[in-house]
Amino acid sequence: MTQDELKQAVARAAIEYVVDGEIIGVGTGSTANFFIDELGKIKSRIKGAVASSEATATRLRGHGIEVFDLNDVESISVYVDGADEINATGAMIKGGGAALTREKIVASVSGKFVCIADGSKLVETLGQFPLPVEVVPMAANAVSRKLVALGGQPRLRTKPGSTDAFVTDNGGYILDVAGLAITDAVALESEINQIVGVIAVGLFARRGADVCLLGTGDGVKKLTF
Ligand code: 5RP
Repeated sequence: MTQDELKQAVARAAIEYVVDGEIIGVGTGSTANFFIDELGKIKSRIKGAVASSEATATRLRGHGIEVFDLNDVESISVYVDGADEINATGAMIKGGGAALTREKIVASVSGKFVCIADGSKLVETLGQFPLPVEVVPMAANAVSRKLVALGGQPRLRTKPGSTDAFVTDNGGYILDVAGLAITDAVALESEINQIVGVIAVGLFARRGADVCLLGTGDGVKKLTF
């Protein structure tokens, strides 16, 4: 099976978690896109969705799914999103698609976080994938120095094919931090959160996944945490 077929399989499996008549939280990225396409097929069953990025909102609307502002929604039963890495406790690295801050916000008001990922995303120790940290632009260098002090090698994310900084939906910059072997994800998440200038860190450990649907050659495996 190709990686796309594995992503499609987990996206299809996640439909089981959709609660009829409700608003669902929807993540960002290629796996989330497959989920949005599946959601489009059953759109009459849901009230609408809260999107974790402008790209996701556009794709949802393209399927005729109403997109709600989170300010108009009190809580969400289920949030479905991909991950760059996930470990055996459900802690994740996210933000490869630059949507980490809004993903974290939507996840924080959601009852259940359903992670959908192909099998390559399951790791023993988080940190092989450079950890995305969204920062206020004027603080990029100041935050970088603090991240170096924590043992990381931060690199400013740039626009594809350009040396200009990539700018997020929130007007932030992203530092991709290599070289961190993350043994205590909860502690590191708290530590990085406290650096002044950080908008959000792509470590989802304090609020990790509740369920992971993992696409493998032997079918979709369900991990619960
Ligand atoms: C976006 C994310 C994505 O969930 C993560 O990057 C995984 O993406 P993909 O499904 O394309 O592998 O965190 O900010």
